[in-house]
Amino acid sequence: MKTITTIQALRFQLDELRSEGKSIGFVPTMGALHEGHASLVRRSVAENDVTVVSIFLNPTQFNDKSDLERYPRTLEADCALLEQCGAQIAFAPSVEEVYPEPDTRQFSYPPTDSVMEGAMRPGHFNGVCQVVSKLFSYVEPDRAYFGEKDFQQIAVIRRMVEDLGFKIQIVPCPVVREESGLARSSRNTLLTEAERRAAAHIYRVLSWSQSFATDHTVEQTRQFVIDSINAHPELEVEYYSIVDADTLADVNAWDAAPAVVGCITVYCGSKPIRLIDHIHY
Ligand code: PAF
Repeated sequence: MKTITTIQALRFQLDELRSEGKSIGFVPTMGALHEGHASLVRRSVAENDVTVVSIFLNPTQFNDKSDLERYPRTLEADCALLEQCGAQIAFAPSVEEVYPEPDTRQFSYPPTDSVMEGAMRPGHFNGVCQVVSKLFSYVEPDRAYFGEKDFQQIAVIRRMVEDLGFKIQIVPCPVVREESGLARSSRNTLLTEAERRAAAHIYRVLSWSQSFATDHTVEQTRQFVIDSINAHPELEVEYYSIVDADTLADVNAWDAAPAVVGCITVYCGSKPIRLIDHIHY
């Protein structure tokens, strides 16, 4: 595997591969790679001739600077994992390479980017669209792979791809879970063992809520999830929204949209660590 740090060198490599007729799969990441990322990379390797993985901790999507500072940085281990998964190129640029000038572009796709994470983390999705649009224009992949754990992020990126007319297939990949059911996340490494056990309660309750929902209203189900998670002393729900899986607008009846999903954010432990998850109804 090659590690490349400049846009020019990346384009040079990829132009050559494209001229040989090779298809290109792309997995954008912020590093601190885990089994969830590995599953995206393996899928890309299986479906494309060449897989490029970007490792770039994007400052513009962090509205909370302390969150950015404590984000795990594990470049060496990340590259070892990518090599094992069969990726051909790791693209690990500096902040100056990606943002030689401040990016002043504004992306707005309401309600998809203005609800839930968009409301709680102002500017977050704008930063995601800034960096992903730049990365897409450097890599020009045929397919780009995103984990469904960040359910809202995929919905926003789909809108951006439509808006900017990128000819890229967005491939959503299923959430990878620990044995306890906890969704794999780079942030899990910041949890103590006790907090990790507590965090497993989130998906347990979401799973219970699927059968609860069969004979309860949307609002009753929403309250059931919030109350059952808040009953755990280590957990506090920030929001639980039951929404149209496509637009992410709130629904108040189960048949109000072709597909309905519940999206949750929970604070865990004393630091506290912010965890997200979702469930389909
Ligand atoms: O999901 C992530 O890790 C990031 O939001 C992404 C897509 C790599 C953009 O920085």
